[in-house]
Amino acid sequence: MNNTDKSGYIFDNVRLTESGDSVIIIDQTKLPNEEVYLELKSIDDFYHAIKTLQVRGAPAIGICAGFALAVEAKRLSLLPDLSESDFFGKLHKAKCYLDSARPTAVNLIHMSDRVEKAAFLCAGKGISEIAESCLRESRLIQSEDAEMCFKIAEYGLSLVKSGDGILTHCNAGPLATSCYGTGLGALFLGKELGYEFHVYSDEMRPLMQGARLTSYELHRAGIDVTVICDNMASMVMKQGKIDACFVGCDRVAANGDTANKVGTSGVAVLARHYGIPFYVFCPSSTIDFECSSGNDIVIEEREETEISGLYFKKPVVPNGVKCYNPAFDVTDNGLITAIITEKGICRLPYEKSLSNLFGK
Ligand code: MRU
Repeated sequence: MNNTDKSGYIFDNVRLTESGDSVIIIDQTKLPNEEVYLELKSIDDFYHAIKTLQVRGAPAIGICAGFALAVEAKRLSLLPDLSESDFFGKLHKAKCYLDSARPTAVNLIHMSDRVEKAAFLCAGKGISEIAESCLRESRLIQSEDAEMCFKIAEYGLSLVKSGDGILTHCNAGPLATSCYGTGLGALFLGKELGYEFHVYSDEMRPLMQGARLTSYELHRAGIDVTVICDNMASMVMKQGKIDACFVGCDRVAANGDTANKVGTSGVAVLARHYGIPFYVFCPSSTIDFECSSGNDIVIEEREETEISGLYFKKPVVPNGVKCYNPAFDVTDNGLITAIITEKGICRLPYEKSLSNLFGK
């Protein structure tokens, strides 16, 4: 099965099947060496896929979680003799289980909330009608994400010019969303319009999303991309190769503090030192107005073995030595030049600019 379209980089990476009984994903842990597609049916399948990063990137996780609940609602609707209250109880249990798969990316909770709310709105109409409404809402989540990505790409493109060098960290491209991506969207759109960019992609230890996924997407689109080790970012900035940094995000607090893949805050500190603009690309689904600052954001901690051995033939850390593996860090709002959303570009003070734009 090949789900890429003719442009070669837009992946149908999370797709609800026509019947609404399952979801097809591209297994991102196998890229770039193999394009393997998986069919997810049970809540355990979805939990496992999200937890192990077979599907990853905040918006893609949210889309997948929305589909997961819709598939579960449909499965429950086919059980004989299930009361509506039992249906809602089981759906809620499934939602809480999914929400616990990855704690930092707020899109997961936002989208599972949306599908559960769509179910509640149909209470009393019968379980099949409720399940239909979950499917509708989950499809809407995906199409809205695609629209948001496109608008973010347009705003992002207004910040750069052809010939610019761009530094990226982790992966915020089509694989992490529904379409163009957020942090990479402007680069794909620019390419379509004839811009030439020179992208430096941090490899992104320990799970290598920059090396494996960002370079894969950009290269397929014919965009000039060079992978560097994470510790080389300062060097390329000092050499004058970087005009702007483009990163995605997993949760943006009301004051603009931003959680993204670990190492992002270091890139922001470096960018400030070298006077390079540091841009965060953020669909509204990733803003958490309930979090007043980055201090409230829960940071996911992952297995030590991801550091000590996952991408090496033999362990690179002596047996018995501890590893610390936080998956995300928080960039202070003061280091962020602008936050680019589907509704426009926000600048400091973010409490004001974000709430003005989103009416909170
Ligand atoms: O652990 P991951 O690979 O899910 O982390 C992904 C990131 O940090 C992305 O930059 C973020 O989710 C934005 S994706 C548009």
